[in-house]
Amino acid sequence: MRVGVDYYPEHWSPERWETDARLMKEAGFNVVRLAEFAWADMEPEEGRFDFSWLDKALDVLGRNGVAAILGTPTGAMPAWVKERYPEVMATGKDGKRLEWGVRKNNCFSSGAYRLLSERIVAAMASHFKGNPNVIGWQTDNEFGGPQCFCLSCRDSFHSWLRRKYGSLEALNKAHGLHFWGQKVSAWSQIPLPVDYGAHNPSLCLDWQRFNSDLNVRFQADQLRILRELCPKHFATHNFMGLFSDLNYYDLAKDLDFVSWDNYPVDEGLPGEFPYRASMAADVMRGLKGKNFWIMEQTAGPHGWGTYGRNVRPGELRKIAYQQVSRGADGMIWFRWRSCTAGREQYWHGLLGHDGKALRRYEEAKLTAQELHKLAPLLEGTTVEAKVAFVYDYESIWATQIQPGFKENYAKERALRLYSALRRSGVDADMIPPSADFSKYSAVFAPALYIMPDALAKRLDAYVKAGGVLFFNGRSGVKDESGLCHERTLPGLLSDALGVSIEEYEAFNDSRISYKIRGSAELPGEYASKRYCDWVKPLSAEALASYGEWHLDGYVAATRNRYGKGFGFYLGCEVDGDAFYDALAACVLKAAGVETLKLPEGVEASVRSGAGRRLLFLVNHSEKELQAPVPAGAKALVGGEGLKDGVLGLGRYGAAVLRLA
Ligand code: GAL
Repeated sequence: MRVGVDYYPEHWSPERWETDARLMKEAGFNVVRLAEFAWADMEPEEGRFDFSWLDKALDVLGRNGVAAILGTPTGAMPAWVKERYPEVMATGKDGKRLEWGVRKNNCFSSGAYRLLSERIVAAMASHFKGNPNVIGWQTDNEFGGPQCFCLSCRDSFHSWLRRKYGSLEALNKAHGLHFWGQKVSAWSQIPLPVDYGAHNPSLCLDWQRFNSDLNVRFQADQLRILRELCPKHFATHNFMGLFSDLNYYDLAKDLDFVSWDNYPVDEGLPGEFPYRASMAADVMRGLKGKNFWIMEQTAGPHGWGTYGRNVRPGELRKIAYQQVSRGADGMIWFRWRSCTAGREQYWHGLLGHDGKALRRYEEAKLTAQELHKLAPLLEGTTVEAKVAFVYDYESIWATQIQPGFKENYAKERALRLYSALRRSGVDADMIPPSADFSKYSAVFAPALYIMPDALAKRLDAYVKAGGVLFFNGRSGVKDESGLCHERTLPGLLSDALGVSIEEYEAFNDSRISYKIRGSAELPGEYASKRYCDWVKPLSAEALASYGEWHLDGYVAATRNRYGKGFGFYLGCEVDGDAFYDALAACVLKAAGVETLKLPEGVEASVRSGAGRRLLFLVNHSEKELQAPVPAGAKALVGGEGLKDGVLGLGRYGAAVLRLA
């Protein structure tokens, strides 16, 4: 188990490094990430490299048992790069180049920037390949900079389209350019979609794909060099959880494992929204279908101008356990010491500006020591979920481009259902549309706006063979080009879901809401918001109907027996959590997935493998709570409050138990 911090030796005088390394060692830290913003320190002038300071820092760290992951430093360019090659600066929608002095502001199609990037990466890799204290690499930092609208990107986009479509005829058809008389007769005529709210949605979707590909290609340039020169080192990247401007599946493909940066503290009130960070972790695990690392874990109040609240006692440890429970095998806090200079002066670390080890350091130290104790048992384990969510970047993009209804945020709609599962102790995988569904008892496919026929057929076959599928409003609407299907909704899934939707509507005025009446299996009265499908049941039975005069004969939620499985459909968005809890319970029951009765605020997860099953119980609340524990379970950490099959968890408490 690697546990440590993001460290910036270049921010401090070398005399301090020994103290830092000693404190790290005392905390049980055995890894740091270094240098991802230190390009100017390593290549102070074009072609002149100086790694001497980093050699020294690595030596000090190494003597204290702290290994290093080096970041390729292309997330922030030195001043000379911009001065010599002004075209490397990204160009905004207004045609103006961005100003230098902020990070993540390069053009990804710039040949000069790609070459400069390859050169610094090659120089670093050649220099550090034999350093026994370097164990791996992080490519760049948080890919996903601003889109660039320069001439080079325009040309590259046109070539990308030409490669994809082969002919203008195919492009005109795929983008539906007969609309508004937009047919093009030369590649150069194709515009860059500067306004997603007005440009052709199919064009916007391809532009989004193209930009994602540019980032992936930029990373691939670096990986080629790292693989060749440093074959023994691992390569990872620090992803951003639910950030979705890039296709993260593509970005993860050639990495050894995924890492991500988790800053959950500012999301709502203390103890609120606890499942967003779980969902993000599951997305991260789903990118490669394997465990991941935390490359930056929140260590204190943070912000670039104003900052948010501090982690409360126990919270830093709890945040770490939530991630380990979802598959984190590395834990790195951001950052070691709060910096006294620059934009991140208030991005607070485990040490204060004064260099003193704070309460937060002590809590990270305790967590590190527990994680080392758990490490041999965690080895070979991961989350083995029976339920999956189809998580699709193309649908997320298409929804942003043309949402259909206000507040239609694809990820939020998934999170609502996902949270219902987490509240009942059910683990879920987040999988790409290309995944094999057959190993799951239930598949949730909410807000899956883009539905290629092949995918619809695979989902249909999954249900027929005994799977349980959940589908909802605005799913399956468009094909992969972003054109609406020429079929009555839900298209090729009509048989599996047993419904037909000819009419639908959205409510621009948030005061409009329809009454929803649950059936005996989904008891209660609820209120819809923002969106409504007028769902006609064909073979499906109603689980909920609308309590509105004009929707007589239409229903809101259905269940359909199809082949050996079931298809569930929800035609509206509903206020509050209760409805989603009840509906998720119906889906899970049909799938035969066991649920747990948990006190509100306690999250339960299981990591299994290598003949072991480890139960994680995490109290997100500031109340002391009692969680039932299966017979024979043995507490490994945090089990002080275990008595008679019940575990008392203090505020932000977390425990790991080995199941019998
Ligand atoms: C992260 C980034 C870090 C650091 C932090 C605070 O997103 O990866 O390098 O800059 O934000 O701004």
